[in-house]
Order: sequence, then structure tokens, then C-alpha cells
Amino acid sequence: MDVVETIHDLRQRRRIQGINQVVGVVPTMGDLHAGHLRLVDYCREQCSFTIATLFVNPLQFGPKEDFANYPRALAHDRAELEQRNVNLLFTPSIEEMYPEGQSAHTTVAVPELSDQLCGAARPGHFNGVTTVVSKLFQITQPDYAYFGEKDWQQLTIIKRMVRQLNMPVEVIGVPTCREADGLAMSSRNRYLSRDEREIAPALFQTLREVATHLHEGSTAYADLEASASNQLREVGFRPDYVAIRDPVTLRLPSAKHESVRVFGAARLGRARLIDNIGVER
Ligand code: PAF
Repeated sequence: MDVVETIHDLRQRRRIQGINQVVGVVPTMGDLHAGHLRLVDYCREQCSFTIATLFVNPLQFGPKEDFANYPRALAHDRAELEQRNVNLLFTPSIEEMYPEGQSAHTTVAVPELSDQLCGAARPGHFNGVTTVVSKLFQITQPDYAYFGEKDWQQLTIIKRMVRQLNMPVEVIGVPTCREADGLAMSSRNRYLSRDEREIAPALFQTLREVATHLHEGSTAYADLEASASNQLREVGFRPDYVAIRDPVTLRLPSAKHESVRVFGAARLGRARLIDNIGVER
């Protein structure tokens, strides 16, 4: 596996591949777990040349968020990616990505989708994501790009950005990897104490109960959301939201909607956990 730190070196390696390779990219912020490695596996299956990127993007963290403490594990990540036969790893510095500084940087923003759900709790977060992801697409010029469904809102926003800006890349969503007790894998699970780790799977369980009610035909969306939030509060979470939405527009679904998605975000100790489940009716 080749490891490069500059855009110049990345471009050079990418150019050598020419048009004969099917190039896939897996953008990550590192501290890789089985969920990331599943993205790599999907990429390796579909593409002949796999690029992974590892960059903890300061632009998508709020001033009071965990940018400074976000887990960093470069040597471990490198070894995992090497073992997975990734062809090229890009690990740029902040200066390489934002040479004129972060506040002077051009922003890519996807309106409507970016301001709600996690965007309401984390103002500016998704603009940071779409800005860095569009830069990574420009730099790596992939045919395919892989993102986890755990971050469903992010995935939806990136798909819309790609479509509206006519970017020549196909965005692939990859199913969420879960621990044996159902907790969605996330680098932020590291922040949980042992007691909190025992409580954490209740987020997925609660969303699953909502999904069951929806599957059985309930359309009392507001009631289901409110009682799920209460349930989370009772076991010790501080919920940001439980929300039933259209999976593509993220708008409130009508009673006739056949396909809906249940989203949840809740704080537990130092961690903010998110999860979501699709429901077909
Ligand atoms: O999902 C993530 O890890 C990040 O938001 C991403 C897509 C790598 C952009 O920094």
C-alpha cells in the first residue's frame, strides 16, 4: 500500500492508473473499526483500485465538539488497510487541505437537508462534511465512493450534492455494522464508560420498537417519537431527537408513505450516539 500526504503525490499516483482502472474511494476520519473495513470490502469487490482517505476534518466539528480528542490511531489504521489490500492511502495535514485557513475556504452547502436532525443539533456540521467530501472527490477522482448507512443523513446529503453538482461519481451506501448487542459501531463508542456501554444498545432497541409499530401500520408519528424519546430519557440518555422521516427528502412522511426511516440521536455521558432503521410498509 502506497501512503501519500500531499495532493500533488495523490494526483500523480491517480494519474498513473489512467482510465483502465475502476477507482473507488473510502473517505474516513480514521480510528478504523469493522464498519470502516466493511466499506473497504465493498470497494475492493467493485473496484480495481481502492483509495482510502484518513483526515480528521476540523471543518465539520463545532467549537464545543470533540475535534481535539477525536481518537487518532494512524499506525493501527495503516496496518488494517494494508491487510485489506488497499492500494493507496491519503493522509493529508490540515494545512494541505486548508492552506488559506478554514474560515477563508470555499464552502459547499446542501440546503434543506443539512439544517435538520443532526444539522439542527450541530450547526455547520454538514457544510463541513460536504466541503471536505467534494474536495476529496476532486482530489481522488473516483468512479465510486463508499459511506456507511449509520450516517444516513450524511449519505443522503452527499448523494444530493453529487447529483446537483453533476459530480461523476456513484455514491454507495453500506449497511451499518453492529456489535453483538445491536449497538452501531462508531469511533465515539470509545467515549462510553462500562456502565454507559451497557445502556448504549437501548438506542437501537428503542428505534426497533418504533419500527415495529410503523411496520404494523401505525401512523401516529409524533406520539411514537415522543414516547421513544421518553424511553431513552428513562434509561439515562439525553436525546436530541427521535424522528420518523422520508428516507430521501428527510421530510415528515404522510400516512400513506410506504418507505420511512426512523432516526435517533442521543447523548450518553461524553458520547453522542446516532442510529437509524428503514421500515417498509
Ligand atoms: O463519516 C465520516 O467519517 C466523515 O464525516 C467523512 C465522510 C469521512 C468526512 O470527513
